Amino acid sequence: MSNLIQITQLTKTFHNGQEEVSALKDISLELNAKDYLAIVGPSGAGKSTLLHIIGGLDEPSRGRVTYKDKDIYMMGEKERALWRNHEIGFVFQFYHLIEELNVLENVAIGASSRFRKSAFKSAQTLLEYLNIQARKNFFPSQLSGGERQKVAFARALINDPEIILCDEPTGNLDKDSQNKVVELLEKLNTEKQKTIILVTHNLELAKRAKRMITLKSGELINN
Ligand SMILES: Nc1ncnc2c1ncn2[C@@H]1O[C@H](COP(=O)(O)OP(=O)(O)OP(=O)(O)O)[C@@H](O)[C@H]1O
Ligand SMILES: [Mg+2]
Repeated sequence: MSNLIQITQLTKTFHNGQEEVSALKDISLELNAKDYLAIVGPSGAGKSTLLHIIGGLDEPSRGRVTYKDKDIYMMGEKERALWRNHEIGFVFQFYHLIEELNVLENVAIGASSRFRKSAFKSAQTLLEYLNIQARKNFFPSQLSGGERQKVAFARALINDPEIILCDEPTGNLDKDSQNKVVELLEKLNTEKQKTIILVTHNLELAKRAKRMITLKSGELINN
C-alpha cells in the first residue's frame, strides 16, 4: 500500500544573518491515510517547522515531501496553494480568527471556489457538528478560548480536507477545554476519517494519539 504522506531525508536550515540554525536534520517519516500522529519535543525542536513543511507552507532545504506520491515542492506556488486549500486544514494555538467577522463568516470565508456556493450551509452544518451553532452570530471577542478553537476547527474543515495539522491547539486552554479538543480530534479521526498530526507539549494528550514521535534539536529520536 502506498503512503498518504512520505517525508524523505528532510532538512531545514534557517539563516539568521551570520548564524545557521538546523531546524530539521534528515527526517524521514511516513503517514498512512487515517493516521493520527502526535509530535512532541522541547521548545525549538523543530515541531512547527516540520508541520509547516508538511502543510506546504515552507520549503525544505533538502529532501522531499510527497502527498499521494506527488512531490508537493515540485508544484508551482499556485498549484501548491490550491492543493493546500483542498487537502490541508490548519489549526493553531492562537486561533487566527478574523475579529471583524462573525463566527459563521469566519468559517465560511475559507471555502474554496468549488464549495463557495454552499459555504454558509456547510459552515452551519460544521458548527452544529461541533456543537457551537448557538454562537454563530457572535464575534471572536465574545467567545471563550475553547469556543474560539471550535470555530478554528470548523474553519479548518470547510473544504473537507484529507489532513488536519494542529500546532499546540490546546496550548491556550484550560484542562476541560483541552480534553474537548482531544475528544474532537479522536472523533474527526474515527468518524470523519481524517488524517491528523498534532503538535503538543502535553505528553498526556499526545499519548492518546495512535502514534507518537519525538523531535529533539531537529532530529527524530524515536518512532
Ligand atoms: N522563520 C524562521 N527563521 C529563522 N529561524 C527559525 C524560523 N522558524 C524557526 N526557526 C528556528 O528553528 C528552530 C525550530 O523552531 P520551531 O518553531 O520549529 O520549534 P518548535 O519545536 O515548534 O518550538 P515550540 O515548541 O517553542 O513552538 C528554532 O531554533 C527556531 O529559532
Ligand atoms: Mg512551535
